[in-house]
Amino acid sequence: MTDKKQLHVLFDEAAIAARVEAIAEQVRAADLKNLLVVAVLKGSFMFAADLLRAMHRKGMQPQVEFVHLSSYLEGTVSQGHVKILKDIESNVSGRDVLLVDDILESGRTLAFAKDLLVARGARKVLISVMLEKPHKRAVQVDADYVGFKSPDKFVVGYGMDVAHNYRQLPFIGCLD
Ligand code: IMP
Ligand code: MG
Repeated sequence: MTDKKQLHVLFDEAAIAARVEAIAEQVRAADLKNLLVVAVLKGSFMFAADLLRAMHRKGMQPQVEFVHLSSYLEGTVSQGHVKILKDIESNVSGRDVLLVDDILESGRTLAFAKDLLVARGARKVLISVMLEKPHKRAVQVDADYVGFKSPDKFVVGYGMDVAHNYRQLPFIGCLD
């Protein structure tokens, strides 16, 4: 890293691990059928990896797919539209799907993804996000499982980036 911004920890590794375990338990209890977990790249990769391992510990056997959606270019300004950069390969018809993403902000990304999977015939589409930013929704979409409510700040780490930096951090922080 070249810039000198201060990084403040918002949610540390232990706090994240506890929430991931709790979400996995909630998903298990939902008794989903023929479950396909669809992780939204890139930001969800760390959360998805942890959540999937927690689901395994609870005896679940989901399949896993990845969709790469983009509503942000480099930097922090939403483009207001969503593009499919990489689609899933599985047929979702009649299946239960759990969409996993890093953060629910305007809701455009997840509303788009959910509508797409419903249109393809998914039986049920649930949403899990690590963070939810309140008061930011531009479209109506709710997350079924949320790790934490995020402060109204640009956050990084645990998969989340600013201009491709900080994704590797095992905790969630914000920059001054
Ligand atoms: P939405 O479509 O506005 O809900 O935006 C969701 C996507 O924007 C997330 O999946 C992130 O990739 C990105 N995003 C929104 N807020 C932040 C942030 O504070 N830090 C990093 N990425 C963010
Ligand atoms: Mg994203």
